[in-house]
Amino acid sequence: TDLSLIRNFSIIAHIDHGKSTLADRLIQVCGGLTDREMSEQVLDNMDIERERGITIKAQTVRLSYTAKDGKTYELNLMDTPGHVDFAYEVSRSLAACEGALLVVDAAQGVEAQTLANVYQSIEHDHEIVPVINKIDLPAAEPDKVKAEIEDIIGLDASDAVLTSAKSGIGVEDVLEALVKRIPPPTGDRDAPLKAMLVDSWYDPYLGVVILVRVMDGWLKKGLEVRFMQGGTQHLVDRVGCFRPKRSDLDEIGPGEIGFITAQIKEVEQARVGDTITTARNGAPAPLKGYKEVQPVVFCGLFPVDAADFEKLRESIGKLRLNDASFSYEMESSAALGFGFRAGFLGLLHLEIIQERLSREYDLDLITTAPSVVYRVHLGHTKNEVATTIDIHNPADWPDVNRIEMIEEPWIKATIYTPDEYLGPILKLCQDRRGIQTNLTYVGGRAQVSYELPLNEVVFDFYDRLKSISRGYASFDYEQIGLREGDLVKMNILVNNEPVDALSLIVHRSVAEERGRGMCERLKDLIPRHLFKIPIQAAIGGKIIARETIAALRKDVTAKCYGGDITRKKKLLEKQKKGKARMREYGNVSIPQEAFIAALRMG
Ligand code: GTP
Repeated sequence: TDLSLIRNFSIIAHIDHGKSTLADRLIQVCGGLTDREMSEQVLDNMDIERERGITIKAQTVRLSYTAKDGKTYELNLMDTPGHVDFAYEVSRSLAACEGALLVVDAAQGVEAQTLANVYQSIEHDHEIVPVINKIDLPAAEPDKVKAEIEDIIGLDASDAVLTSAKSGIGVEDVLEALVKRIPPPTGDRDAPLKAMLVDSWYDPYLGVVILVRVMDGWLKKGLEVRFMQGGTQHLVDRVGCFRPKRSDLDEIGPGEIGFITAQIKEVEQARVGDTITTARNGAPAPLKGYKEVQPVVFCGLFPVDAADFEKLRESIGKLRLNDASFSYEMESSAALGFGFRAGFLGLLHLEIIQERLSREYDLDLITTAPSVVYRVHLGHTKNEVATTIDIHNPADWPDVNRIEMIEEPWIKATIYTPDEYLGPILKLCQDRRGIQTNLTYVGGRAQVSYELPLNEVVFDFYDRLKSISRGYASFDYEQIGLREGDLVKMNILVNNEPVDALSLIVHRSVAEERGRGMCERLKDLIPRHLFKIPIQAAIGGKIIARETIAALRKDVTAKCYGGDITRKKKLLEKQKKGKARMREYGNVSIPQEAFIAALRMG
């Protein structure tokens, strides 16, 4: 294809501003699908994504559009994941494009998460076309939103396209703007092949499918290629594109986006950001910007019913086939038995995997407290040399006497909120050891930046933020490296026995408060037994908080004394059911909910 007739673009939008609806309209206008096929949203294809309204796996669609200038253009729409946890994938998708549509809801305006993606897009030298969507809504204020785009983002919005993706208004204008304003790609057909691996996923029929953007050269069936970072070689057995239905092609030329398959069995071999070149006479150097993604949040996943362990093992394996960014290894806990320690890109990623396990594989799980990765510097002893270790499981915390220094990961958070919620938000950040770095007002809204330790954010920061702002605040973060921290391991003792699944790493300054909170919550969550149960929080041998569950005095049936027998039976049954969802620990039963609920902070 003539390079001047190709346009590669992505759509940047905050969740719910209408990205999928607009994409569907573009596909429809360009004749990719019949009306009936259109009735199903096509771009978000996993149930969970649709229900939660988020796009996780990038999907790309090739459209054919005959513009008003009479020429027919090849438009490649790159769908990007819409959440901060997947920032690296987003960056690769953006690197595959020359421009972006910035979709902003005419009634909601610019949100924090949109900003992060727009800035990334600007860094990739994209031409950005602002699209103000949902102009059909009575609350739409397109002029106010235009001013916001100019004030907050610094983009000229005078030529913003006004649309209602829902009713189809302005969709042609979007296509014309794409053709006129987004530059065509550049590339050299005769140079050695350089194709960027933008995404990969597992398809049961095709094996691993790889989405590519060819920079120079071309890709054809039968070509022997080499993955420059992964170091493996493969024979290309299929090339094609999605319109959005899969369609095979003879070749993918310079500037184009498409997919290849090469009989690859595991997504791990097809890493996002890798450079594909020919096995012989390949490119001398890979494309810039490759990064190996590392999980940042870890937790234990245990089956509620120990008999489900094998099923859990199998299900985790299947999920991992399609998602190289989460990792897992077996773990055993005295309290919870056999399970897995799993690593995720972020909290949302964790939630998605957890939800898929319970929904698609019908597993009841206990998830232990999420943890970040701590770098612990150990001094030497008579028998051991000084060393540095990375720890993501409180169970592996080393002997305190050997610890010389601990570093923990920090993030920079940007929160965007209507200013009436600013007070409580500042307090929340302050309580989580935050350091305020910036505060600005735009219109009736505040944008505040904080540096925060990641371990203060992984519990329930996001939920708290949403609840104190009634859902209005938006939150975005990036990692900013490690900093020294005075961290300690806190154990929870139930009936004088430490419960491993409840121990966690906390900052010394907040340990006592957290410990007290956990003991108080556990006191309410653990049912009374026939004996008194002390619940304690301890650092090393030192008890820092304590609660006591009083002994149960009477038999539960006692209050039916003289009453009828069916009521008595019912009560006993109820008691039995309650038991089924409990974990016996020592001689104390701890209900499943307690493991997570205990960690929620006040
Ligand atoms: P994610 O895929 O979750 O990132 O969201 P999205 O940005 O793709 O939003 P989506 O297209 O799913 O739209 C969100 C909601 O807004 C849906 O209920 C749409 O029907 C609605 N919507 C989209 N465009 C318009 C519009 O132009 N007008 C009105 N009134 N509603 C719209």
